[in-house]
Amino acid sequence: MQVKSFEEYQQVYRKSVEQPEKFWDEIANNFLWKKKWDKVVEWNFVEPNIKWFKGAKLNITENCLDRHLEKNGDTPAIIWEPNDPTEHHRILTYRQLYNKVCQFANVLKNNGAKKGDRICIYMPMVPELEIAVLACARIGAVHSVVFGGFSAQSIADRIKDADCNIVITADGGFRGNKVIDLKSIIDDALVQCPSVEKVVVLTRTRTPVSMLKGRDVWWEDEIKKVETQGNTECPAEEMDAEDMLFILYTSGSTGKPKGVVHTCGGYMVYTGYTFSNAFQYEPGEVYFCTADIGWITGHSYIAYGPLSQGATSVLFEGIPTWPNSSRFWDIVEKFKVNILYTAPTAIRSLMSFGDEALKGKDLSSLKKLGSVGEPINEEAWHWFDEKIGHGNCPIVDTWWQTETGGFMISPIAGVTPTKPGYATLPLPGIQPILVDENGKEVKGNGVSGNLCIRFPWPGMLRTTYGDHERCRTTYFAAYPNLYFTGDGCLRDEDGYYRITGRVDDVLNVSGHRIGTAEVENAINMHSSVVESAVVGYPHDIKGQGVYAFVICPDQEHEPELTRKDILMTVSRIIGPIAKPDKIQFVSGLPKTRSGKIMRRILRKIAEGDTSNLGDTSTLLDPGVVDEIKAGAL
Ligand code: PRX
Repeated sequence: MQVKSFEEYQQVYRKSVEQPEKFWDEIANNFLWKKKWDKVVEWNFVEPNIKWFKGAKLNITENCLDRHLEKNGDTPAIIWEPNDPTEHHRILTYRQLYNKVCQFANVLKNNGAKKGDRICIYMPMVPELEIAVLACARIGAVHSVVFGGFSAQSIADRIKDADCNIVITADGGFRGNKVIDLKSIIDDALVQCPSVEKVVVLTRTRTPVSMLKGRDVWWEDEIKKVETQGNTECPAEEMDAEDMLFILYTSGSTGKPKGVVHTCGGYMVYTGYTFSNAFQYEPGEVYFCTADIGWITGHSYIAYGPLSQGATSVLFEGIPTWPNSSRFWDIVEKFKVNILYTAPTAIRSLMSFGDEALKGKDLSSLKKLGSVGEPINEEAWHWFDEKIGHGNCPIVDTWWQTETGGFMISPIAGVTPTKPGYATLPLPGIQPILVDENGKEVKGNGVSGNLCIRFPWPGMLRTTYGDHERCRTTYFAAYPNLYFTGDGCLRDEDGYYRITGRVDDVLNVSGHRIGTAEVENAINMHSSVVESAVVGYPHDIKGQGVYAFVICPDQEHEPELTRKDILMTVSRIIGPIAKPDKIQFVSGLPKTRSGKIMRRILRKIAEGDTSNLGDTSTLLDPGVVDEIKAGAL
């Protein structure tokens, strides 16, 4: 599946555009199917209706586990590095992982799980998280993983939206010097969720937890039961290529986060193919993706992609800055990591500690580097290249989204000539197009526009859970017959793509996707807030910071305390990751006569660029702008 030279890439790319069905047919033949497809693709972007590998049957876990057993059963699948470096690491070979997945799949069955059920997973970054994910896939249950940084309210919203009947969690999780009380957060969430019948709780921190009779069971006890039953094997459920594999919630410009739906066949092919090709993964290489499984990067490029390719992955429980800022480099040295895939925000944060943290660290095992989640600024790109890669490692800047399932525009390591800040060229099978505001194609090079995709690819979302119309309006209605990404993009003179950031009201804070409307809604829940407007502003480490303009007459007595109360409200409603970095109290917001907030003005003020605010004559009360300008933080 790998192209080995730039010429070959160009040839393969051309073929993938001219004969997409033939191209994907050949790629899909590299995977294990219970039954092959009758048709490669059937699609329209109007409804939208997208079906890949129609009629095919498979189970993704057979590709990720069973098929490696004979030859590579003893190959490490997961090397787990705990949060605390003094705790021993764990290695799970493919055979061990297979056994544990089968065991836990039987636990799920014992607890009433069936094909098609939705199961919510809220766990720390331990091997059991990956085991839980794969066990769901094994029995055909749909997993909905929720990142550990989300609040009880966010979890409840997601559980209710997907109507989950089972939750898998842990007593707690370690992150740096903190313990997160996961079970207790789940208990708070479940007060609102009568659909949940069972909660399986893994022991990790052994924090005291409440265990409700009839509902809550310990992971370890349930495994023992399966062992005494002698239930060690679990046949893989036969899934249709278009059966749902998982739901993952992500923020958009309006409303609550939506459940992006990925299906079994196309997602398997796409993540396996892109992982193998873009990273040019060779057997025996040690791969370390620093993301959390709670995000799409973890789903596609910690769990499914690498496992379907028989790769060895490092799974890290902790954070890059604890117990000190050398942690990543210690892990690279300890496990002789060959491929390091991380995010610009982590790079910028580690960069800020200076070269001291790198002193004496042996990074010579590194061969390839990857970046994901947000535009990488040139300074960070060069630092990554020089200080970490010592100029010898291609940087694979992968542009993609929760909705795309896998890499879309990305260099192929060692094949595509790179350029700092550029995701470079589309991978085979991907047909990007730039359009102007009116949906007219912007042709040629040295141009910019809104990034769309004009032909389907196997890993794309199929719907948004329970609300197909939302999927249509969000992604397929802006421009007829195109998938709209929400990103702005420039194509330079060489035809290279550089993603410039979101063109909608979605923020990218430390690589986490946050909707401004969502944060506003949370701020407005505070009892004395009248109204608010949230925009992003450039932030040295996080990429973007959250700037909130808030109307709150009561704050005058104790502005500092009110500010903290608002932060607490946002933490409760969404989670700590969405807390505004800056809160400015204002007496009014710049609104047009029709009542629309002019965010353009607020964005400029938040960026500290107040010299040219553009035309403010259509504002209901232009005076409010001067007040906001004067009070800017
Ligand atoms: O704006 C783009 C940015 O992250 C958005 C997708 O966020 P999410 O669905 O959370 O997925 C993140 C991990 C794939 C995109 O719309 N983005 C992601 N990767 C890049 C990027 N922006 C620039 N360069 C990238 N490599």
